Amino acid sequence: MASQVLVAANRGPLSYQLGEDDTLTARRGGGGLVSGLSAALARQPEALWICAALSEADREAVRRGVCEPGVRMLDIDPTTYDDAYNGIANSVLWFTHHHLYDVPREPVFDARFRQQWDSYAAYNRAFAEALAEEAAEGACVLVQDYHLALVPGQLRELRPDLRIAHFTHTPWASREFLDMLPDDVRGQLVWGMLGADQLGFHTWRWSAEFIAGADRDDAVGIAQPHLPGGSPERGVWHHRAAADGSGYGPRRFTEVRQYALGVDADDLRALAHRPVVDDKLAALRADVGGRATIVRVDRTELSKNILRGLLAYRELLTAHPEWRDRVVHLASAYPSRQDLEVYRAYTQSVRELAQEINAEFGTADWQPVLVSVEDDFARSLAAYRLADVALVNPVRDGMNLVAKEIPVVSEAGCALVLSSGAGAYEELREDALTVNPYDVSATAQALHAALLMPAGERLERTKRLAAAATALPPTDWFTAQLSALRGE
Ligand code: G6P
Repeated sequence: MASQVLVAANRGPLSYQLGEDDTLTARRGGGGLVSGLSAALARQPEALWICAALSEADREAVRRGVCEPGVRMLDIDPTTYDDAYNGIANSVLWFTHHHLYDVPREPVFDARFRQQWDSYAAYNRAFAEALAEEAAEGACVLVQDYHLALVPGQLRELRPDLRIAHFTHTPWASREFLDMLPDDVRGQLVWGMLGADQLGFHTWRWSAEFIAGADRDDAVGIAQPHLPGGSPERGVWHHRAAADGSGYGPRRFTEVRQYALGVDADDLRALAHRPVVDDKLAALRADVGGRATIVRVDRTELSKNILRGLLAYRELLTAHPEWRDRVVHLASAYPSRQDLEVYRAYTQSVRELAQEINAEFGTADWQPVLVSVEDDFARSLAAYRLADVALVNPVRDGMNLVAKEIPVVSEAGCALVLSSGAGAYEELREDALTVNPYDVSATAQALHAALLMPAGERLERTKRLAAAATALPPTDWFTAQLSALRGE
């Protein structure tokens, strides 16, 4: 039966692992996209979620027909998929949007890049075709993230009757970084996005970057920012140049809006109070031994700035020796994108720096940093409950849900040290201790101030942080986009 509401994302709600005994076990993937969408779609049972098979085990799940109801996994050719996901989405688009390039050496757009870009277009096309096949007449399609930036344009050509939205869970690149892409590739990317009726970002900052980057004349089309007088709606008017230079096609308007994804307090607190989390909490309490805690939880991800966070902690212990033996830094840095050498090397550097700090300051009964590189959600929730200080210092981050989750779950109230690079900064800045993510000394000072914050003030700030963090829970975030797309 054709669907009225469809979601497309690279990652599905679950991915599979194949055991030695040939059984498939399912696991929830990390990152804000899956947590937000899973929560929202749990209350939209009629929606269809189209995702990619990420691994051989996922392909096997497709062959065995065991995927959950409401999910269609696309079995894309593995080489095409690897080029699209690792080669373009994670190595080019992620680095561009997060400004991660080591510019004297990167990026390099050569013949291999062109091959990968073709694979990226083919992988996007597979999604566009599946959506075109599954969507009912006039259905709403909500496409997610940088993996699928070409889908809106491709889908509009296949099915002009559909209402199409795209939501970006990352930042959008500044114009300077966007302009590093080859002109034709940048044009295809922007044009693909402008195939949507509505583009969503977490904050106005990323929307503004998109509009600034789309405002140009180039080989693919022209786009102009449009700020209708007196209307809070913003967007881009655009029309495409004919290939033979004979003029332009009809003008279309793509709206650009912000939907600041938040967390669902009841769901999260229920998750955080399961017996498995209580057990992990008891184990952590034993390790921490009554000392204060500084908690961080991230994928081991370059943009999360884990290394500078550790350097700041080291500086704290050097500049304020009074904290030695009185604080423990609980750092969960669970593995991510380990197919990429740069991520493996980063994970290794995190481990090594933590070991150095432990070797420098540790004593027989005090280990200053406890690093966990396991994907252990229950342990992370236990650490949230125990947090006196939360450290969230990304260099650039679409939203950062951890900054919103910790204040909701922490038991005694936590002081949030938050970087101005996080999308969450816009909503949480007033009650956080805010830092420039590159300024290690300022981060060390903020940690010191956070540890010294009186309990009463900490609790009051935490209440306000939790209120801001839960302002737009996933279900509302999703239905707000759906209603806007339906013109309601
Ligand atoms: C970010 C992205 C998501 C992605 C997640 C985890 O949150 O916005 O699209 O799913 O990271 O990354 P992965 O590559 O493991 O899906």
